Amino acid sequence: MPLVAPSLLSADFTRLADAADMLNRSEADWFHLDVMDGVFVPNLTFGMPVIEQLKKLSNKPFDVHLMIVQPERYIEAFKQAGADILTVHYEASTHLHRTLHAIKQSGMKAGVALNPHTPVHHLEEVLADIDLVCLMSVNPGFGGQKFIENTYKKIEKLAELRQSSQTNFLIEIDGGVNLTNASKLIDTGADVLVAGNFVFSSSNPIETIKSLKYCK
Ligand code: DX5
Ligand code: ZN
Repeated sequence: MPLVAPSLLSADFTRLADAADMLNRSEADWFHLDVMDGVFVPNLTFGMPVIEQLKKLSNKPFDVHLMIVQPERYIEAFKQAGADILTVHYEASTHLHRTLHAIKQSGMKAGVALNPHTPVHHLEEVLADIDLVCLMSVNPGFGGQKFIENTYKKIEKLAELRQSSQTNFLIEIDGGVNLTNASKLIDTGADVLVAGNFVFSSSNPIETIKSLKYCK
């Protein structure tokens, strides 16, 4: 059974408290929070103040996905805001090893996200330092995009690497996840499914979350 992490990027931002309440009552495992800076990706979302307020409304783990340059500058700030898992992009981290250790040092789980074009073997030398690898199955920046089919190959390769290196990070898939691909993603080796548009544009988000959770 996968972990399900609905992305609040697709929630109604004028009613974030309602979205949090819905997720609390649902079978969602984590809140997925997409932070964008308009530099690393061509879009802006929200930052620490919004996450800090949301944190007061939920006890579920906060999975914070930083799509920002120089993420190492904000590690402590996101910890203070309530992040439990902090994911930085490989493409935005010059000193990834140091950044991963700083994240763990501050008491959070450390994640690394890979853009669709980045090969999974680029993480080979730091696999033991990673708690979660987020494979982007769309180009980051927007919700509601089409799933990139090549992701399955990357999951396979990453699962092989995990086995051969005897490490145990989680494999998270982010972008275009829905019921047509969820089950195959799990079969291929995914542990965590992020879903934004599929959950929040559905008429019954609680049932939609449940359908992802029990897709296997
Ligand atoms: C994209 C974000 C995703 C996004 C997923 O840059 O990282 O988390 O919200 O949304 P959907 O599920 O709509 O593709
Ligand atoms: Zn995300």
